[in-house]
Amino acid sequence: MLVQLTYASKTSGMLGPFDIKDILNSSARNNQRIGVTGALCLSNGIFLQQLEGDREAVNTVYHRILKDPRHKDPAILDFSEIVVRQFGTWSMGLIAAVQENRQMFLKHSTTSDFNPYNMSPSTLRAFFAEMVNNVRWLS
Ligand SMILES: Cc1cc2nc3c(=O)[nH]c(=O)nc-3n(C[C@H](O)[C@H](O)[C@H](O)COP(=O)(O)O)c2cc1C
Repeated sequence: MLVQLTYASKTSGMLGPFDIKDILNSSARNNQRIGVTGALCLSNGIFLQQLEGDREAVNTVYHRILKDPRHKDPAILDFSEIVVRQFGTWSMGLIAAVQENRQMFLKHSTTSDFNPYNMSPSTLRAFFAEMVNNVRWLS
């Protein structure tokens, strides 16, 4: 069964300049092996990640990510069945907080700061649907 899981977390003091690269490298390696795809967004000290794939595989990845000291305060924002994948071939795309993306963050946010913790599941889906065209793959 194909599912998507969307969660938010906050960067911790453990997060250094090389960590994003390291996270994307691990994601590319591990997610590809188990057929998980998705996108990771970082803005305002908040991670927002959408993982999609087999339910068991998505659960496995999420539980591994939870143990990572580089972030804290995780909250699942949406967990639903999907018919098709949104991020098709991306093991993990990075949505960077570049200027043009900021406008899109604000478009889907109730506050002037990007705060996914407040976003509803349908708003999150609309956000990622729009972001899919702006994903930058770093590896
Ligand atoms: C916000 C965030 C998102 C992450 N996303 C993934 C992911 O999608 N897939 C993954 O395998 N690891 C991800 N990681 C890294 C894992 O927590 C962990 O470090 C990694 O899976 C270890 O794998 P390795 O030993 O093969 O490097 C993420 C970490 C953070 C902080």
